[in-house]
Amino acid sequence: MYEALPLASLRSTEYAYLDEKQHIYLDHTGAGLPARRQLTGHAERLTSDAYGNPHSLNPTSAASGALVERARAAVLRHFDADPAEYAVVFTPNATGALRLVGEAYPFSRRSRLVLLMDNHNSVNGLRQFARARGARTTVVPLDLPELRTSERALREALSGRRRGLFAYPAQSNFSGVQHPLNWVGIAQEAGFDVLLDAAAYAPTGRLDLSTVRPDFVAVSWYKVFGYPTGIGSLIVRREAMARLRRPWFSGGTVQVASSLAQWHRMTADESAFEDGTLNFLHIPDVEAGLDFLGSIGMDAVQRHVGHLTGMLLEGLRELTHGSGAPMVRLHGPAGTDMRGGTVAFSLLDANGAMVDERLVSRDSAALGISLRTGCFCNPGVGEAAFGIGEPDLRRATRETTGTIDDYMGRLSISSGGAVRVSVGLSSNLADVKRFLRFVEDTYRDQEPRAAGLPPRLHC
Ligand SMILES: Cc1ncc(COP(=O)(O)O)c(C=O)c1O
Repeated sequence: MYEALPLASLRSTEYAYLDEKQHIYLDHTGAGLPARRQLTGHAERLTSDAYGNPHSLNPTSAASGALVERARAAVLRHFDADPAEYAVVFTPNATGALRLVGEAYPFSRRSRLVLLMDNHNSVNGLRQFARARGARTTVVPLDLPELRTSERALREALSGRRRGLFAYPAQSNFSGVQHPLNWVGIAQEAGFDVLLDAAAYAPTGRLDLSTVRPDFVAVSWYKVFGYPTGIGSLIVRREAMARLRRPWFSGGTVQVASSLAQWHRMTADESAFEDGTLNFLHIPDVEAGLDFLGSIGMDAVQRHVGHLTGMLLEGLRELTHGSGAPMVRLHGPAGTDMRGGTVAFSLLDANGAMVDERLVSRDSAALGISLRTGCFCNPGVGEAAFGIGEPDLRRATRETTGTIDDYMGRLSISSGGAVRVSVGLSSNLADVKRFLRFVEDTYRDQEPRAAGLPPRLHC
């Protein structure tokens, strides 16, 4: 365990590389950043002992296996999950966790997948598994301007004879909206299993699985504390895990298999979902990351990010052109209630037209600012934010060739997406102020021209 850490000092101790290299890192929804002690801890562990493939009982294997099991226990502790009720499956990332559910969920013609319109494509992709087995997909719409959904709309979508799987994000990776965690219980009472995508929520939000009990939770650990990359988790209720049917088996997932008889028996626990050899040199770093986070305290992280988000929102609101016209159109809530540190917006030029997001990407990068532009793999929020209706989308998607810019042209939208700025554990007020100054200095009273920008390669 690390000693208790004051958050204010971390920037100059654990994240000194940011200021040393003059970074303004505002992409915490893309990835968190590693604290220096996570990296030195990893190096110390691997340079002081030997760790073998955990699939056997020899000493180096047993050492790896013990650390992997400790990491599983640490994940359960972090989420206040009862080990008798929940299991942890290590995956390559949140997408890997979502895919495990999608490919093994017992969809049928008599069941349904219900998706919130605000979902990452790694959740939207579940509809292909549902479709392949004859299950329909229902999409719950979003309301402007906050890009939230009412409980009434949710209950309506969940009503009807066909039950199945309801999947939604605890926090939007586009707008920062935190969707209510009590939807888990509402959907379960309506007869649905619930898949909670916590990839964008987990870095700053507290998830207590002793009070809210989704059947499946997906996380990517690099988003929470930057390192290690390549490891996520599916936290799964054991009862729900028993209803999943894996479409194949592999090394690591079977107790026994026969070649000639073409027979196999899966392992009875979470290892049935862990294909091949686990990333056993890095999984112990998840425990170290959770210890680090625990030494700061999730509540302190949440307060810190909430404060910075409030300052960012206020600064964006105050940005106006000389005429008094706003420079910013926000996509999502203007306040800090029920939202995380992800803020999406479009910049408006002196004529009120949207500034092409590729310009913002280019101009900000030139000043060492890391932010995101586009639709962030979340097309539903983009469609809601830019007011693109279903008939237009159906028409535009009838043509399957052409570039992304052609597709946008068919939709008659002038911008390929929003600008996304996201703050996190390693951010400070200077980052927020420098970003606001960049926007003011670069775009105030300007009509920047988009000529000569490279084509968009993806939305
Ligand atoms: C809400 C949400 N879900 C899922 C994902 C997919 O995460 P990964 O790419 O780590 O699998 C992301 C990544 O940005 C996300 O923000």
